[in-house]
Amino acid sequence: LGDKLFAYKGTVFPVDDTQELTTEYIDSLENFEIKDSDVFVVTFPKSGTVWTQRIVTLIYEEDFPELENEVTFLRMPWLEFLEKGKDYSTRPSPRLFCSHLQQHLMPRGLQQHRGKIIYVMRNPKDAMVSYFHFAKFMKKLDSPPDYDEMLDKFFTGWMIGGRWFDHVKGWHTNKDNYNILFLTYEEMIKDLRSVVVRICEFVGKNLSDAAIDSVVERVTFKNMKNDAKANYEFLPEDVKDPTKGKFLRKGTIGDWKNSLTVAQSERFDQVYQERMRNLPLQFIWD
Ligand code: PPS
Repeated sequence: LGDKLFAYKGTVFPVDDTQELTTEYIDSLENFEIKDSDVFVVTFPKSGTVWTQRIVTLIYEEDFPELENEVTFLRMPWLEFLEKGKDYSTRPSPRLFCSHLQQHLMPRGLQQHRGKIIYVMRNPKDAMVSYFHFAKFMKKLDSPPDYDEMLDKFFTGWMIGGRWFDHVKGWHTNKDNYNILFLTYEEMIKDLRSVVVRICEFVGKNLSDAAIDSVVERVTFKNMKNDAKANYEFLPEDVKDPTKGKFLRKGTIGDWKNSLTVAQSERFDQVYQERMRNLPLQFIWD
């Protein structure tokens, strides 16, 4: 296992000395003070984070006109990947964050129905295939040579975010403690506009039809792929090798069918059945 990762409290983080990402910092997040106007986009990796992050920052664009030309990840930073020397508690409200944290590590203040969480899920075969490609261009990740090893990684949870099963289960079984909107990547693909409308309603933003149309237009796969502010083109080259792939890769449902053999897919199904048995969740797989 060559990845530069560390495991802590049932999940897994990247090792990165440009960030405050220590076990003490992770522990401190439980007490991170929450404001009612805070909005968090929470996901297991490769489930639609960057997409939802872009949508939410555009919905809030009028609140921060001075940031219009800023990259998305400065407007909605990652809660756990805090750049050294920064302090999120003093950000101007409404504060927007995204996170790959599992439920038990998130700020406890959110459990008092303060703040809002948008939790985006994706069918896990596609999330896994997306991660396989992501690991090729992220320098701190070891890309598995084949999907047999990728399956091992996915089942043991030796990847950013830990085990997909724990992530989804933790959030879903504790949902009643939060102001939380569950979305799926697949419904975003199938009907983007109504997802944008639902997000506006959830966060209490009253956008005109024309403003909603404009958000939808700017976050199509094609437009986001060509928008350097939205597609993480600005990540430093010690983090990402730009010659080996992009965050916006394919953007479809069912790419796992082009990647897994029948045997690999059956192995996946078996583990999925065992671990998700008691969870009332349905995914669109293709
Ligand atoms: S990360 O690293 O966890 O933040 O990755 P994440 O953003 O969650 O997931 C990346 C996948 O989301 C796809 N994506 C999109 N699909 C459709 N439309 C839009 N606008 C869009 N933006 C990002 C991206 O292509 C990755 O999926 P794959 O299957 O690899 O293409």
